[in-house]
Amino acid sequence: MAGYKIAILISGRGSNMAALIQACQAKDFPADVALVLSNRADAPGLAVARAANIPTHTIEQGAFESREAFDAAMTEVLAGAGVRLICLAGFMRLLSADFCHRWRDSLINIHPSLLPAFKGLHVHQRMLDAGVRIAGCTVHYVRPEMDEGPILVQAAVAIAADDTPDSLAARILEQEHRIYPLAVRLIAEGRARPAGGIVAIDNYSFPKQWLINPPLD
Ligand code: GRF
Repeated sequence: MAGYKIAILISGRGSNMAALIQACQAKDFPADVALVLSNRADAPGLAVARAANIPTHTIEQGAFESREAFDAAMTEVLAGAGVRLICLAGFMRLLSADFCHRWRDSLINIHPSLLPAFKGLHVHQRMLDAGVRIAGCTVHYVRPEMDEGPILVQAAVAIAADDTPDSLAARILEQEHRIYPLAVRLIAEGRARPAGGIVAIDNYSFPKQWLINPPLD
């Protein structure tokens, strides 16, 4: 057990969650998954977490009068579990400003674009519609504005002429599963320092082979 406890928040299939759980199982990884929390009892990822013996918790949104009340219930569960870092992984709910402030610099998200380009939903379709040549994914600290916040790690993915939203999403997802554990490692090791809207990382050089995936000839 590494002692640095993280929580993963999901609403759906949880493939990034599974990548984080797998990374945390490695002996030299500096974090442990203390909790998987969902806002949907039917999120398929919950079964994956249970199969890995990770405690799960569901907070159904229907039971709460306001976003703030729902988020306060989440904070109670997360703080009660001794969590130091919260990883949003396909958590399909906007978070209140209160929640973002309570967990400032202890709350990160993964997004399937090279932020700050293509915030929001349906990004794969929108990237193809815009004709961009290079896509990618980003792990960033969360601020109250959607898909805003200091960038921790990114990977780039080349777009192919025959890409569909699904084929592009699949290639980006492979990179998501690499960069999310890396971002958690950097934070858990105390090497990521957000300040002034960007993140300084101690003793780190970005693996060059990650710049374009697949690599260009
Ligand atoms: C991923 O594409 C992630 O970037 C976005 O939501 C999706 C979640 O997928 N935020 P999964 O549930 O981790 O498989």
